[in-house]
Amino acid sequence: MANVTVVDHPLVQHKLTIMRDKGTSTAGFRRLLKEISHLLCYEVTRNLELTTKRIETPLMEMDAPTLEGKKLVFASVLRAGNGLLEGMLDLVPAARVAHIGLYRDHETLEAVEYYFKAPGELDNRLVIVVDPMLATANSAIAAVEKLKERGANNLRFVCLLAAPEGIENFGRAHPDVPVYTAAIDSHLNEKGYIVPGLGDAGDRMYGTK
Ligand code: PRP
Ligand code: URA
Repeated sequence: MANVTVVDHPLVQHKLTIMRDKGTSTAGFRRLLKEISHLLCYEVTRNLELTTKRIETPLMEMDAPTLEGKKLVFASVLRAGNGLLEGMLDLVPAARVAHIGLYRDHETLEAVEYYFKAPGELDNRLVIVVDPMLATANSAIAAVEKLKERGANNLRFVCLLAAPEGIENFGRAHPDVPVYTAAIDSHLNEKGYIVPGLGDAGDRMYGTK
């Protein structure tokens, strides 16, 4: 079973409800995803290691806390991952970024890869994979596999909505990768959509169909 954290902060839940509503506009959907990503970023980075550095305030010198270690990496699963990525980069602007192009084959629900670009030296960096939807988890499993092949050994996965089936599958494939989600929904329908869900995240973000 995956190690799952549900970020049930009232602001996250309120914004998620507006995102789920089919009447919410494309612009509204994108704005809310970015806002929620700030709150998810706060949670997923909560236990980052700190060290200190010597600085001088206008009053005195002090050893002040600063992030330790190599720059972290956000890995965005295209397309919809970019909606979470933007907000994460607002809070951690020095992070490195990986892009993983995957789409679900609508018949088989298997993930099909069409693009991969990641920074070097993924080992010894925290790699935070972002994709709003964890449905069957085929995409998330493939993304994490690819990053592990490139040396990543410290990963976390952040999404907005997860299906119980996806959490189960992901936990079996990658028990070492904790999952952060704003909500766990009821189930997947026969087409692999999360129910009640919010529909197709990429289409709602970009106004496609
Ligand atoms: C969506 C979503 C995930 C995937 C989740 O992407 O952003 O990547 O589906 O489904 P899974 O857990 O069953 O793999 P989609 O394939 O629709 O591509 P898009 O973001 O380009 O629209
Ligand atoms: N991908 C989506 O965008 N939505 C779902 O409900 C399932 C997969």
